[in-house]
Amino acid sequence: MSLLVTGGAGFIGSNFVLDWIATTGEAVVNLDALTYAGNLRNLASLQGDARHVFVQGDICDRALIDRLLAEHRPRAIVHFAAESHVDRSIHGPGAFVRTNVEGTFALLEAARAHWSGLGGAEKDAFRFHHVSTDEVYGSLAPEAPAFTETHAYEPNSPYSASKAASDHLVRAWHHTYGLPVVTTNCSNNYGPYHFPEKLIPLMIVNALAGKPLPVYGDGRQIRDWLYVTDHCSAIRAVLERGRLGETYNIGGWNEQANIDIVRLVCALLDELQPDPAGPYQRLITYVTDRPGHDRRYAIDARKIERELGWRPAETFETGIRKTVEWYLAHTDWVREVQSGSYRDWVAQNYAARTPGSA
Ligand code: NAD
Ligand code: TYD
Repeated sequence: MSLLVTGGAGFIGSNFVLDWIATTGEAVVNLDALTYAGNLRNLASLQGDARHVFVQGDICDRALIDRLLAEHRPRAIVHFAAESHVDRSIHGPGAFVRTNVEGTFALLEAARAHWSGLGGAEKDAFRFHHVSTDEVYGSLAPEAPAFTETHAYEPNSPYSASKAASDHLVRAWHHTYGLPVVTTNCSNNYGPYHFPEKLIPLMIVNALAGKPLPVYGDGRQIRDWLYVTDHCSAIRAVLERGRLGETYNIGGWNEQANIDIVRLVCALLDELQPDPAGPYQRLITYVTDRPGHDRRYAIDARKIERELGWRPAETFETGIRKTVEWYLAHTDWVREVQSGSYRDWVAQNYAARTPGSA
């Protein structure tokens, strides 16, 4: 038995592959295009392990997906591959429509053709698990209740719009063709192997390099943070016991304002690797806000708790400490991902943001 995982060299996908093989022992065929966000180094501990088959390729390549499904006959597809960074989607939305919408379409069509040809128990057991985000629900007012699975879709960024489109395709392939799908909409993840273009790892690596810590706008935007291995355990639960055609929101009941996260990261670094030049908070710099910046996301995770008995294992205090410690222990990984293309991105995203005050 095996899974076909897409995007398994990215942040969450690589954590999932490592976690899956460690907890279940089941093989994974890992299809990833290795864009700037994909990194085989995340999977170095699986080198030589026959349970991990890596295939470099594009989810838009229908012939390739057909071949992989025919060759490996996976019992499920777990679909992580995506363009995932909101700021990049503002600078270049085309790649988001291509991978997140057209890529999901190609994968659904390949899955449908494959599943239609299966019989008996193999057909009954097959699953297409679509990994999505809470950002499809749009932005919440300060006192509004957290997102439930029935909240209206109101995506605001090219990223969230492309993910919303992919969620709708997945839903339609279930209703129209009966494809056995499950969808999960998760809140912001953090943890090991997080690419340092996103808030938490960017703040850690910038602080350690003595660079400014760029806080967009007033820094009071709220995200609901979940440690990445808790997302992995939730996906395992939904894959095993989730009801077909259902969506499950995944979150850790952990709303935090950006500025509070940045201050906490600084405080942990002050404790674990003090800077002789002074507390890291001196580097906090308020900069021009992100256009269309969503103010607040919050997940109501009662459905997955009630139906599947899933709960996060980490608190924010334990998870953020582990994360900072991981980055301190993996300076080689950080150095390697900060390649030429990473530096080009940092220049593009931050050069035009003028420093201001909150
Ligand atoms: P990531 O950007 O770190 O990784 C994406 C991976 O997909 C990379 O390895 C990349 O090489 C691969 N990829 C991109 N385009 C591809 C293509 N055309 N064909 C094949 N592979 C391709 O993203 P992530 O943060 O690990 O997110 C994974 C999934 O989880 C995404 O679908 C994202 O929308 C969703 N999600 C992310 C978060 C979060 O906080 N990061 C939260 C909720 C949901
Ligand atoms: P990010 O990690 O890009 O995730 P998302 O936009 O998908 O939630 O950003 C998290 C929050 O941090 C978001 O409100 C934007 C903010 N942010 C900054 O203030 N400064 C930064 O340099 C970055 C990358 C993000």
